[in-house]
Formats: sequence, C-alpha cells, structure tokens
Amino acid sequence: MSDLATQAQVAIVTGAGSGIGAAIARDLGARGTNLVLVGRRAELLDERVAEIMAGGGSALASPGDVREFADLERAASVALDHWGRIDVLVANAAIADFGPIAEADPELWRDVIVTNVLGVMYAVRAVLPHMLGAGSGHVVITASGSGRVTYVGEPAYVASKHATVAFADCLRLEVAAAGIRVSVIEPGLVETPLIHVYEGSNDMVGEVDALTPEDIARAVRYVLDQPPGVNVFEVLVRPTRQLL
Ligand SMILES: NC(=O)c1ccc[n+]([C@@H]2O[C@H](COP(=O)([O-])OP(=O)(O)OC[C@H]3O[C@@H](n4cnc5c(N)ncnc54)[C@H](OP(=O)(O)O)[C@@H]3O)[C@@H](O)[C@H]2O)c1
Repeated sequence: MSDLATQAQVAIVTGAGSGIGAAIARDLGARGTNLVLVGRRAELLDERVAEIMAGGGSALASPGDVREFADLERAASVALDHWGRIDVLVANAAIADFGPIAEADPELWRDVIVTNVLGVMYAVRAVLPHMLGAGSGHVVITASGSGRVTYVGEPAYVASKHATVAFADCLRLEVAAAGIRVSVIEPGLVETPLIHVYEGSNDMVGEVDALTPEDIARAVRYVLDQPPGVNVFEVLVRPTRQLL
C-alpha cells in the first residue's frame, strides 16, 4: 500500500457552517478525516471547527464565498499546505428563492444561479487538478430532489439544481477514466435554516417529518465508504411521507 493510501483522508466541505454541511463535516471529522470548512460566516465555521476538534478530529476554517473562484482556490491551498492532499470535495453550499416568476427579483435569481451552479463548478475546478494529479478523488455534490422534479415556488432553485445534476453528469463522464468518483446527493425536505428563509415557502413543512441533517450525512458516508472501484452515482433521500 502506498504512503498516500495509508494517510488520513482530507476533505473540503462548502456550506459547512450550518445545516447539512455542518452535519457532514461533524461526521467526517469524527471519522478521522482532516477537514477544510468553507462558508461566508467565519464565526459559524469557527464553531464547527471547535466542535470537531473537541471530538478529537482535525479541521481548519477557510472563510470564503463560493461565488468567488479565488476563495475556493484558497481553500484548496489550505488543504494542500496543511495536509498535502485533497481526497474529497463536498460541494454543498446553496441558497433558495421563493415566489412567482412574474414577480421575482432578478438579482436574487442571479445570486441563486451563481451560488448554486457556478459555486459548485468553481469548487470542482479548484480541486480537480489535484485529484487528477493524484489519480483519485471523490466529488460529492449536494443537489436536491429539486434537481429531479419540478414544482411551483422556487423556480431559480429548481433550475439551479437541475443544472447541478447535469454538471455532475458531465464531470463524471470526463473524470471516471482517471479514477475519480462523482456522487450526487439529492435530499428531500431536511430541517435546516434553508427551509425557513422564506415564510410559507414550503408547504411540506409541518406536513411531513423532515429529515435531519444527520440523515444526509449518513448518505454521504455511504457513498464515501464504497471501495475505490464502486461509484454511487446518486442518492435520492426523502422523508418517508414525502413522495415528490
Ligand atoms: N434543507 C433542505 O430541505 C434541502 C433539501 C434538498 C437539498 N438541500 C441542499 O442542501 C445543501 C445545504 O443546505 P442546508 O439545507 O443545509 O441549508 P443551510 O443551513 O442554509 O446551509 C447552506 C450553507 O451554505 C452556505 N452558503 C450559502 N451561500 C454561500 C456562498 N455564497 N458562499 C459560501 N457559502 C455559502 C451558508 O453559509 P454562509 O451563509 O455563512 O455562507 C450555509 O452554511 C444545499 O445545497 C441545499 O440546496 C437542502
């Protein structure tokens, strides 16, 4: 076994300050993965780093905005400077819109598309040269059930998640031969700050028992725990009573 194979894994998680990203980071940290946490609110990242360190894990905050490629390059540099490798990217940061198309704020639409689509693409672009150089790596993208179905209420979010799934499919086609895996996680309703940003935005809140962020972290653990020759393309996880 090579030295690289026996060293602890290194993961970058975007949107790690809250919700699903925080749960994924805690889970990976508890399993001995060295972490670089990305998000705009440095104080949230510091809290997550402190939790992970208190649990015996190892994490660094790299505050930044996924809309800025330079911030993601910096996160990649933090991982490489400290641990010399990047095994896993969890591209998870996103925001939502809410409301009728005819009344939408075009600037919010821009923000949703840039954050959710370009933010994922930039994160992948920042780590991919290192993964290709290493001949291994695993890109995990938090898309959504909203990347597979359409409905009224969050048009930019739905469009962004469909685009994210399409980008992941393009990426997988390009890098599979290099030994790099690409997995898309597609949660249904999860109890996080995101579903409470817009009042009335989610009819399902209160009607189905939302998943917990830890439920999604478990799905991420499942895809990461597969042997190198096994790539789980996508995991669609919904609350039992949520059918669409
Ligand atoms: N909750 C659900 O029901 C649900 C369902 C399906 C899919 N998802 C997906 O799950 C992922 C995580 O969302 P969540 O539900 O856990 O919500 P959340 O708690 O709001 O987490 C989103 C995270 O993304 C970060 N973020 C937002 N914009 C950013 C930017 N420009 N640059 C860097 N970080 C940014 C936020 O931190 P800062 O504001 O500090 O940057 C926040 O920590 C998203 O991709 C979401 O679409 C959620």
